[in-house]
Amino acid sequence: MTTNPLVAPSVAATIGRVSEFGVLPVVELGAVKQAQPLFEALSAGGLPAAEVTLRTPAGLEALRLLAEAYPEGFIGAGTVRSAEDAARVIDAGARFVVSPGTDPDIVRLCCEREVLVMPGTCTPTEVQAALRAGASLLKFFPAEASGGVAFLKALAGPFADVRFVPTGGVNAGNLASYLALPQVAACGGSWMVAPRLLAEGDFAQVQALAAQAVAIVAEARSHG
Ligand code: 3PG
Repeated sequence: MTTNPLVAPSVAATIGRVSEFGVLPVVELGAVKQAQPLFEALSAGGLPAAEVTLRTPAGLEALRLLAEAYPEGFIGAGTVRSAEDAARVIDAGARFVVSPGTDPDIVRLCCEREVLVMPGTCTPTEVQAALRAGASLLKFFPAEASGGVAFLKALAGPFADVRFVPTGGVNAGNLASYLALPQVAACGGSWMVAPRLLAEGDFAQVQALAAQAVAIVAEARSHG
């Protein structure tokens, strides 16, 4: 992947880590106490990465706890819907910030703080707005509902230099088809960390699904 020379070195390094992982678990935590066993399970499955969403009251505190407990882990924040929340999650230790939509204030704040931001896009107009605001890696959301692989292929004409992280409806069955596209850096998804698994404490299943996702990424990359 080519890297824009205007991208801060710390952001470029984080983009590199996103690509290396190839898949980012999107986590919705019902309680802070789920955070550590969850991250242990993901790590045991070979995937020490988590996008901790602010969808629940536990999100911010869990993010802070994980960032402190696992400095080598790759822990960021999701469902960040305001610049104020972006500042909060960066202060809590987020290595990356994911937003469902494209808010130039969020993008600018993250660029100023030299933290990778992945704003959500699902139209060419949003892609242009996100790039104009300074983003260098874009979430494609909701991926499946917006046209999935076919839509990304259509974007490759005018946006051949833009890299995406499709999220929303991605699972073990279609992950490889996204990773086969040159403009896909990684995919996000909640299938290996479904809230039901966390509520039931089924961390063995989280580990197994994480290991399966890692294997799919490895297999997809072996063709690239
Ligand atoms: C997100 O916010 O990124 C999505 O809710 C994740 O989508 P999924 O639950 O379909 O994986």
